[in-house]
Amino acid sequence: MAPPTLSSTLSPTLPRVPSPPPAARQPQVRLAEPLAGHWHGGDAFRTHLFNALSLMFPQGERSFIDTVREFLPHLAAEPHLRAQVLGFIGQEGTHARVHRGYNERLAELGFVDRLQARLERRIGLTRRWLRPLDRLAITVAYEHYTAVLAANLLANPAVLRGAHPQLALLWGWHAVEETEHKAVAFDVYRRCGGGYLRRLAAGLYASFFLALDLLVQVLGLLRDDRQRASPRAVLRSAWNVYFGPDRVAAALWRGFMHFVRPGFHPWQVDNRADVERWLHAHAQAFAASAPTLQPAPSAPS
Ligand SMILES: [Fe+2]
Ligand SMILES: [Fe+2]
Repeated sequence: MAPPTLSSTLSPTLPRVPSPPPAARQPQVRLAEPLAGHWHGGDAFRTHLFNALSLMFPQGERSFIDTVREFLPHLAAEPHLRAQVLGFIGQEGTHARVHRGYNERLAELGFVDRLQARLERRIGLTRRWLRPLDRLAITVAYEHYTAVLAANLLANPAVLRGAHPQLALLWGWHAVEETEHKAVAFDVYRRCGGGYLRRLAAGLYASFFLALDLLVQVLGLLRDDRQRASPRAVLRSAWNVYFGPDRVAAALWRGFMHFVRPGFHPWQVDNRADVERWLHAHAQAFAASAPTLQPAPSAPS
Protein backbone atom coordinates (compact mmCIF):
# COMPACT_ATOMS: atom_id res chain seq x y z
CA MET A 1 0.00 0.00 0.00
CA ALA A 2 1.24 3.46 -0.87
CA PRO A 3 2.36 5.54 2.11
CA PRO A 4 0.06 8.35 3.18
CA THR A 5 0.63 11.58 1.31
CA LEU A 6 -0.01 15.20 2.14
CA SER A 7 -2.40 17.08 -0.07
CA SER A 8 -0.50 19.63 -2.14
CA THR A 9 -3.07 22.34 -1.39
CA LEU A 10 -3.29 22.93 2.33
CA SER A 11 -6.45 24.18 3.90
CA PRO A 12 -5.92 27.39 5.93
CA THR A 13 -8.53 26.17 8.43
CA LEU A 14 -8.52 23.01 10.53
CA PRO A 15 -9.92 20.04 8.57
CA ARG A 16 -13.30 18.83 9.76
CA VAL A 17 -12.35 15.38 10.96
CA PRO A 18 -15.19 13.80 12.96
CA SER A 19 -13.37 12.85 16.12
CA PRO A 20 -14.97 11.42 19.23
CA PRO A 21 -12.58 11.66 22.21
CA PRO A 22 -9.91 8.95 21.95
CA ALA A 23 -10.63 6.01 24.25
CA ALA A 24 -7.88 4.02 25.98
CA ARG A 25 -7.93 0.26 25.42
CA GLN A 26 -6.31 -2.38 27.59
CA PRO A 27 -4.20 -4.74 25.46
CA GLN A 28 -4.02 -8.28 26.85
CA VAL A 29 -0.38 -9.06 26.09
CA ARG A 30 2.14 -11.46 27.61
CA LEU A 31 5.61 -10.08 27.09
CA ALA A 32 7.84 -11.97 29.52
CA GLU A 33 8.76 -14.88 27.27
CA PRO A 34 9.08 -13.18 23.84
CA LEU A 35 11.21 -10.30 25.16
CA ALA A 36 13.90 -12.80 26.19
CA GLY A 37 14.93 -13.28 22.56
CA HIS A 38 15.19 -11.37 19.30
CA TRP A 39 11.43 -11.19 19.07
CA HIS A 40 11.42 -9.38 15.73
CA GLY A 41 12.11 -12.22 13.31
CA GLY A 42 15.39 -13.15 15.03
CA ASP A 43 16.78 -9.75 13.98
CA ALA A 44 18.81 -8.00 16.70
CA PHE A 45 18.65 -4.48 15.21
CA ARG A 46 14.89 -4.51 14.59
CA THR A 47 14.27 -5.95 18.05
CA HIS A 48 16.38 -3.33 19.79
CA LEU A 49 15.05 -0.43 17.72
CA PHE A 50 11.57 -1.15 19.11
CA ASN A 51 12.99 -1.91 22.57
CA ALA A 52 14.77 1.46 22.50
CA LEU A 53 11.50 3.24 21.70
CA SER A 54 9.82 1.40 24.56
CA LEU A 55 12.53 2.52 26.99
CA MET A 56 11.91 6.15 26.07
CA PHE A 57 8.10 6.10 26.11
CA PRO A 58 7.18 6.22 29.83
CA GLN A 59 9.18 9.37 30.59
CA GLY A 60 8.24 11.04 27.32
CA GLU A 61 4.55 10.24 27.62
CA ARG A 62 4.43 11.36 31.26
CA SER A 63 5.98 14.68 30.24
CA PHE A 64 3.49 15.07 27.32
CA ILE A 65 0.59 14.45 29.72
CA ASP A 66 1.91 16.99 32.24
CA THR A 67 2.44 19.59 29.52
CA VAL A 68 -0.97 19.24 27.88
CA ARG A 69 -2.74 19.02 31.24
CA GLU A 70 -1.40 22.48 32.14
CA PHE A 71 -3.60 23.93 29.38
CA LEU A 72 -6.86 22.37 30.55
CA PRO A 73 -7.87 25.51 32.52
CA HIS A 74 -7.68 27.49 29.24
CA LEU A 75 -10.17 25.19 27.53
CA ALA A 76 -13.21 25.85 29.70
CA ALA A 77 -15.08 27.27 26.69
CA GLU A 78 -13.98 24.41 24.41
CA PRO A 79 -15.75 21.27 25.68
CA HIS A 80 -14.95 19.29 22.51
CA LEU A 81 -11.21 19.96 22.73
CA ARG A 82 -11.24 19.47 26.49
CA ALA A 83 -12.76 16.00 25.99
CA GLN A 84 -10.05 15.28 23.43
CA VAL A 85 -7.37 16.25 25.97
CA LEU A 86 -8.86 13.97 28.62
CA GLY A 87 -8.92 11.13 26.07
CA PHE A 88 -5.28 11.88 25.18
CA ILE A 89 -4.30 11.73 28.86
CA GLY A 90 -6.12 8.40 29.26
CA GLN A 91 -4.37 6.85 26.24
CA GLU A 92 -0.88 8.13 27.02
CA GLY A 93 -1.22 7.12 30.68
CA THR A 94 -2.06 3.56 29.61
CA HIS A 95 0.84 3.50 27.15
CA ALA A 96 3.28 4.66 29.83
CA ARG A 97 2.05 1.98 32.25
CA VAL A 98 2.24 -0.86 29.68
CA HIS A 99 5.71 0.23 28.53
CA ARG A 100 6.93 0.40 32.13
CA GLY A 101 6.06 -3.31 32.41
CA TYR A 102 7.85 -3.97 29.09
CA ASN A 103 10.92 -2.06 30.34
CA GLU A 104 10.98 -3.83 33.71
CA ARG A 105 11.22 -7.11 31.81
CA LEU A 106 14.11 -5.72 29.73
CA ALA A 107 15.86 -4.73 32.98
CA GLU A 108 15.41 -8.27 34.38
CA LEU A 109 17.11 -9.54 31.22
CA GLY A 110 20.12 -7.30 31.84
CA PHE A 111 19.35 -4.44 29.45
CA VAL A 112 20.31 -1.05 30.86
CA ASP A 113 18.32 2.13 30.20
CA ARG A 114 21.19 4.53 29.54
CA LEU A 115 19.05 7.59 28.98
CA GLN A 116 16.76 7.66 32.00
CA ALA A 117 18.81 10.13 34.07
CA ARG A 118 19.69 12.25 31.03
CA LEU A 119 16.04 12.47 29.91
CA GLU A 120 14.95 13.35 33.43
CA ARG A 121 17.51 16.16 33.51
CA ARG A 122 16.49 17.45 30.09
CA ILE A 123 12.78 17.43 30.98
CA GLY A 124 13.63 19.24 34.23
CA LEU A 125 15.59 21.90 32.31
CA THR A 126 12.74 22.50 29.88
CA ARG A 127 10.33 22.91 32.82
CA ARG A 128 12.70 25.39 34.43
CA TRP A 129 13.69 27.50 31.45
CA LEU A 130 10.95 27.24 28.84
CA ARG A 131 7.46 28.70 28.88
CA PRO A 132 4.46 26.35 28.86
CA LEU A 133 3.73 27.16 25.21
CA ASP A 134 7.34 26.28 24.28
CA ARG A 135 7.01 22.93 26.03
CA LEU A 136 3.66 22.36 24.33
CA ALA A 137 5.33 23.03 20.95
CA ILE A 138 7.95 20.36 21.79
CA THR A 139 5.16 17.94 22.72
CA VAL A 140 3.46 18.71 19.39
CA ALA A 141 6.68 17.91 17.53
CA TYR A 142 7.28 14.61 19.35
CA GLU A 143 3.64 13.65 18.89
CA HIS A 144 4.05 14.31 15.18
CA TYR A 145 7.05 12.00 14.88
CA THR A 146 5.24 9.33 16.90
CA ALA A 147 2.27 9.65 14.54
CA VAL A 148 4.54 9.45 11.48
CA LEU A 149 6.13 6.21 12.72
CA ALA A 150 2.69 4.88 13.69
CA ALA A 151 1.27 5.69 10.23
CA ASN A 152 4.12 3.85 8.56
CA LEU A 153 3.64 0.85 10.83
CA LEU A 154 -0.10 0.68 10.12
CA ALA A 155 0.21 1.23 6.36
CA ASN A 156 3.27 -0.92 5.68
CA PRO A 157 3.11 -4.61 6.66
CA ALA A 158 6.92 -4.92 6.30
CA VAL A 159 7.44 -3.00 9.55
CA LEU A 160 6.17 -5.82 11.79
CA ARG A 161 6.66 -8.78 9.44
CA GLY A 162 8.23 -11.63 11.42
CA ALA A 163 7.55 -10.06 14.83
CA HIS A 164 6.30 -12.20 17.71
CA PRO A 165 2.47 -11.94 17.69
CA GLN A 166 2.32 -10.55 21.24
CA LEU A 167 4.76 -7.76 20.41
CA ALA A 168 3.07 -7.11 17.06
CA LEU A 169 -0.20 -6.68 18.95
CA LEU A 170 1.37 -4.28 21.44
CA TRP A 171 3.03 -2.10 18.81
CA GLY A 172 -0.06 -2.12 16.57
CA TRP A 173 -2.24 -1.04 19.51
CA HIS A 174 0.14 1.78 20.38
CA ALA A 175 0.28 2.91 16.73
CA VAL A 176 -3.53 2.96 16.49
CA GLU A 177 -3.94 5.11 19.59
CA GLU A 178 -1.09 7.46 18.59
CA THR A 179 -2.95 8.00 15.33
CA GLU A 180 -6.29 8.56 17.05
CA HIS A 181 -4.90 11.37 19.23
CA LYS A 182 -2.29 12.73 16.82
CA ALA A 183 -3.88 16.19 16.54
CA VAL A 184 -4.84 16.76 20.18
CA ALA A 185 -1.66 18.53 21.37
CA PHE A 186 -1.51 20.37 18.03
CA ASP A 187 -5.09 21.68 18.37
CA VAL A 188 -4.47 22.80 21.96
CA TYR A 189 -1.32 24.59 20.77
CA ARG A 190 -3.23 26.40 18.03
CA ARG A 191 -6.17 27.28 20.30
CA CYS A 192 -3.80 28.69 22.92
CA GLY A 193 -2.04 30.98 20.46
CA GLY A 194 0.91 28.83 19.40
CA GLY A 195 2.48 30.08 16.19
CA TYR A 196 4.61 28.79 13.34
CA LEU A 197 8.14 29.84 14.33
CA ARG A 198 7.91 28.32 17.80
CA ARG A 199 6.58 25.09 16.25
CA LEU A 200 9.41 25.11 13.69
CA ALA A 201 12.04 25.50 16.44
CA ALA A 202 10.39 22.68 18.40
CA GLY A 203 10.43 20.50 15.26
CA LEU A 204 14.19 20.98 14.90
CA TYR A 205 14.71 20.27 18.62
CA ALA A 206 12.67 17.05 18.48
CA SER A 207 14.35 15.89 15.25
CA PHE A 208 17.81 16.27 16.77
CA PHE A 209 17.11 14.64 20.13
CA LEU A 210 14.96 11.81 18.74
CA ALA A 211 17.78 10.77 16.38
CA LEU A 212 20.47 11.13 19.05
CA ASP A 213 18.53 9.34 21.81
CA LEU A 214 17.54 6.45 19.56
CA LEU A 215 21.14 5.98 18.42
CA VAL A 216 22.51 5.95 21.99
CA GLN A 217 19.79 3.62 23.22
CA VAL A 218 20.02 1.11 20.33
CA LEU A 219 23.83 0.90 20.51
CA GLY A 220 23.60 0.34 24.27
CA LEU A 221 21.03 -2.43 23.92
CA LEU A 222 23.12 -4.15 21.23
CA ARG A 223 26.12 -3.98 23.57
CA ASP A 224 24.13 -5.49 26.48
CA ASP A 225 22.80 -8.30 24.29
CA ARG A 226 24.34 -11.67 25.18
CA GLN A 227 23.17 -13.08 21.82
CA ARG A 228 25.79 -11.04 19.95
CA ALA A 229 24.84 -10.02 16.42
CA SER A 230 27.61 -9.44 13.90
CA PRO A 231 28.18 -5.78 12.93
CA ARG A 232 27.53 -6.78 9.34
CA ALA A 233 24.10 -8.22 10.20
CA VAL A 234 23.24 -5.13 12.25
CA LEU A 235 24.21 -2.76 9.43
CA ARG A 236 22.30 -4.79 6.84
CA SER A 237 19.20 -4.75 9.02
CA ALA A 238 19.53 -1.01 9.70
CA TRP A 239 19.77 -0.36 5.97
CA ASN A 240 16.64 -2.45 5.34
CA VAL A 241 14.70 -0.68 8.08
CA TYR A 242 15.58 2.83 6.95
CA PHE A 243 15.98 2.45 3.18
CA GLY A 244 14.53 -0.98 2.36
CA PRO A 245 10.99 -2.36 2.65
CA ASP A 246 10.20 -0.62 5.95
CA ARG A 247 10.81 2.82 4.32
CA VAL A 248 11.39 4.47 7.71
CA ALA A 249 13.84 7.10 6.38
CA ALA A 250 11.37 8.20 3.70
CA ALA A 251 8.52 8.30 6.22
CA LEU A 252 10.56 10.44 8.64
CA TRP A 253 11.75 12.79 5.92
CA ARG A 254 8.22 13.22 4.55
CA GLY A 255 6.99 13.78 8.09
CA PHE A 256 9.61 16.46 8.66
CA MET A 257 8.73 18.22 5.40
CA HIS A 258 5.04 18.19 6.34
CA PHE A 259 5.75 19.61 9.78
CA VAL A 260 7.76 22.58 8.49
CA ARG A 261 4.92 23.76 6.23
CA PRO A 262 3.23 26.83 7.74
CA GLY A 263 -0.32 25.51 7.08
CA PHE A 264 0.30 22.00 8.38
CA HIS A 265 -2.29 20.09 10.40
CA PRO A 266 -1.83 16.42 11.43
CA TRP A 267 -5.14 15.31 9.86
CA GLN A 268 -4.06 16.52 6.43
CA VAL A 269 -2.66 12.98 6.36
CA ASP A 270 -5.97 11.20 6.81
CA ASN A 271 -5.11 7.58 7.66
CA ARG A 272 -8.24 6.70 9.61
CA ALA A 273 -8.86 3.81 7.18
CA ASP A 274 -5.62 2.12 8.34
CA VAL A 275 -6.73 2.47 11.97
CA GLU A 276 -10.16 0.98 11.19
CA ARG A 277 -8.60 -1.92 9.31
CA TRP A 278 -6.25 -2.75 12.19
CA LEU A 279 -9.00 -2.50 14.82
CA HIS A 280 -11.29 -4.71 12.74
CA ALA A 281 -8.55 -7.34 12.36
CA HIS A 282 -7.75 -7.31 16.10
CA ALA A 283 -11.22 -6.89 17.61
CA GLN A 284 -10.82 -10.14 19.57
CA ALA A 285 -7.69 -8.91 21.32
CA PHE A 286 -9.64 -6.19 23.10
CA ALA A 287 -12.87 -8.07 23.71
CA ALA A 288 -12.12 -8.52 27.41
CA SER A 289 -10.94 -4.97 28.03
CA ALA A 290 -12.97 -2.02 29.18
CA PRO A 291 -14.00 0.13 26.20
CA THR A 292 -12.66 3.28 27.79
CA LEU A 293 -10.29 4.17 30.55
CA GLN A 294 -11.19 7.48 32.11
CA PRO A 295 -8.32 9.80 33.00
CA ALA A 296 -7.28 10.19 36.61
CA PRO A 297 -9.93 12.01 38.65
CA SER A 298 -7.20 14.35 39.87
CA ALA A 299 -7.12 16.02 36.44
CA PRO A 300 -7.60 19.76 37.09
CA SER A 301 -10.74 21.28 35.69
FE1 LIG B 1 1.74 6.83 23.44
FE1 LIG C 1 0.95 10.30 21.70
